[in-house]
Amino acid sequence: MEDPYDANTNPGGYVNLGTAENHLLFDAIAPFLREAAVIVEADAHYNELYGISFLREAVADFLQIRAKRPLSPEHIVIASGASAVLELLAFTLCDPGDAILIPTPYYPGFDYDLGLRSGAELVEVPLDSPDFRLDEARVEAAFADATSRGTRVRAVLLTSPHNPLGQVYDEALVHRVVDFATRKEIHVILDEIYAESLLPGVEHFSGLRIKNPLIHVVYGFAKDFGLSGYKVGILHSESAQVVAATQELSYFHTVSTVTQRMLAGLLRDPQLPELLRYARSRLNDSYGRVIEKLSQHGIPYLPGNGGIVIWIDLRAFLRSSSFEDEQRLWQELLDQERVSISPGQAFHCKEPGWFRLCFTAPIAHLDAGLERLGRGLTRTP
Ligand SMILES: Cc1ncc(COP(=O)(O)O)c(C=O)c1O
Repeated sequence: MEDPYDANTNPGGYVNLGTAENHLLFDAIAPFLREAAVIVEADAHYNELYGISFLREAVADFLQIRAKRPLSPEHIVIASGASAVLELLAFTLCDPGDAILIPTPYYPGFDYDLGLRSGAELVEVPLDSPDFRLDEARVEAAFADATSRGTRVRAVLLTSPHNPLGQVYDEALVHRVVDFATRKEIHVILDEIYAESLLPGVEHFSGLRIKNPLIHVVYGFAKDFGLSGYKVGILHSESAQVVAATQELSYFHTVSTVTQRMLAGLLRDPQLPELLRYARSRLNDSYGRVIEKLSQHGIPYLPGNGGIVIWIDLRAFLRSSSFEDEQRLWQELLDQERVSISPGQAFHCKEPGWFRLCFTAPIAHLDAGLERLGRGLTRTP
């Protein structure tokens, strides 16, 4: 961050393809935000700390397209980022020592969001290379194993589209996991922060479509809207108890009224569907660019269909199949080529050699980063 790449002013700087941020949209979204940035006196004062009704109403209207059924603003809680929403859920659902099941590899932020302060234990549901396919039998096995150790399992977490795998779960799988959870009376947290970031023709099955008080859907503005700095997260839950508890706790994670006003204006803008279509076409362009370059450089990858990252397979570029060597490769790419990608170990991946690359960096960064990656990998081992 101290020495970032810039094609004109700092071509020798570091290229960051490691952080999952969407840089493709700001030029398109800025006019919407400027238009929505109105100053009204009500916003200068305290209001509902869990999200002002005008934003919760706009969010409910926006999300019900995905839900394909009416949603109520009463079931929505706004907090400062999806991370904050996840923490609210962990505090609400778990006592210290209770477990949340999570398929690996998973987004490393979950360790902090769900586990760090709540004291919940994150129990891994390990998935196998090279396709990392989830099935409900794996969830059941992890549940049985944790229960036999005397651990109380309170929830299972699914991320769709997935970070770092860049894929969506199909409808049948989501139903099977929800059915299992319902039988065991455990909760299902569905992190859908990348729900609008889909490649053409891809159907994302949202947990919002299922009416079940055990399902809690997490969304936010960080990825699909490229507004990670605004720090706004959304919870939708049809459990009165979960909504009541998270509303109370959100006191510590409130979003500024000014930000809420702008985002409500953005969601109410009649041009929003066009903006989202444009966002998808840019996503598709970048995805096309990244897979073309990866293929040119002989770098295998897990084909993606949703999200802003791609899971690449650098196992053939390791000297030995070890996490030490994965770290060595990561460090060499960083030091010698000045390109940053994220090593699989950080995602609790069980096999060394997998890395996550974010393809929604600015286009010039993406091109330079892929060039450097290709060069760095021809030099190793
Ligand atoms: C799956 C997932 N959930 C949550 C977050 C955190 O989102 P926010 O920046 O809104 O706290 C991220 C950010 O990378 C993410 O990838």
